[in-house]
Amino acid sequence: MDRRVILLGFLCLPLSLASCSKGEVYANASYVAEGHLTSFRPGSIWKDEAGEFIQAHGGQIQRMPVPIEGQGKVEKYVWIGENKENGSRGDPARMYYSDDLYNWKCGGDVLKSVDSREALDDDPYFVALYGELSKEKKDHVYEVLGKEAVIERPKMLYNAKNDNYVLWFHSDGKTALHDFAYDAGMSGVAVSESPFGPFKLIDRYRLNHCPADQFDAFPQSKGEARDMNLFLDDDGKAYVVYTSENNKTIYISRLNEDFTYLDVEPTLAVHKKDFIRLFPSSMREAPALAKIEGRYYLITSSTTGWDSNVASCWSSDSLFGEWQIDGNPFVGEGSTFAFDTQSTCLFEAQSGTWIYYGDRWNRNDIKDSRYVWLPAKVSQNKLSVTWKSEWTY
Ligand code: DGJ
Repeated sequence: MDRRVILLGFLCLPLSLASCSKGEVYANASYVAEGHLTSFRPGSIWKDEAGEFIQAHGGQIQRMPVPIEGQGKVEKYVWIGENKENGSRGDPARMYYSDDLYNWKCGGDVLKSVDSREALDDDPYFVALYGELSKEKKDHVYEVLGKEAVIERPKMLYNAKNDNYVLWFHSDGKTALHDFAYDAGMSGVAVSESPFGPFKLIDRYRLNHCPADQFDAFPQSKGEARDMNLFLDDDGKAYVVYTSENNKTIYISRLNEDFTYLDVEPTLAVHKKDFIRLFPSSMREAPALAKIEGRYYLITSSTTGWDSNVASCWSSDSLFGEWQIDGNPFVGEGSTFAFDTQSTCLFEAQSGTWIYYGDRWNRNDIKDSRYVWLPAKVSQNKLSVTWKSEWTY
């Protein structure tokens, strides 16, 4: 079958079963969380401190230094994700910051998308970033950040060595070969001196591919990288985690010391030394990786577009070692389809307290997609996520 038909099927297929998991547990979905907040209300409308709906979908929460006027750099929680106010093409990456995880200040669109090719020549914001580039290179920037480009799941790391911020995102779009919005299948990388941006695009890349001695689930398009995440280990090494081989196989690849590219380029990279290929042909995406009590836990979703599906967790004592399948980490009523969410982040709120953050996508009004944050716990090497309609950490 044509590759686009297969991929489109997985990206757009409305999973009719998805709605049957919604029940009493979602009664709070219409609650509007605003004003000074002291709890999480999963699935409710969540407003920032200015009273605006938080736009940071497919996002990530990290603690990192943030420059605050008069205070220098101060550790804050930083939330980065897709601003879907204008739909699902050319979504800018928006940043928020917080001291308590409940109340968020908007830091603005830190990686802006470009409305027209002309803007790269005459909008002072883009001229300051890309004015020196040749016409061909500006055409390429427009291909990656333009109105029709797919910019999804942005993630940001602070690089202590360079005292700068590095942003990766799922960069996609049509290609000369296929008139299909998810044909490029790449990872985009941008850098900034500040978490408030402006982030400047470095480039976008295909990443590692299947070693010659293994069965490649999609040999006709090597090194694809779609849904992705970044992971910073406690030894300071950073990794990009992504779905590849037409969304069939997850990869984890180590980044260089600047976090701006792979540590070892694909032609030289060695499997299980520089990268690992996980769960071949299992059709997983939306990876959320965390190290909890010395063990790595990786939650992924199945591939049903904007519809929720059955999540799965894998765990391992070593990133490039043996991974064990632990099954659905969601527990209780509504857990079959991950409480109607798709994974995007698993993060430590404070020492020993972990939070699962999933997107409850609204395919009919994508900007009104909701955030579901729930407590995640490990017991006997198994991660579990339980529903709470209101909770504190
Ligand atoms: C599922 C992915 O996880 C989302 O980020 C987005 O790409 C949708 N597919 C688009 O259908």
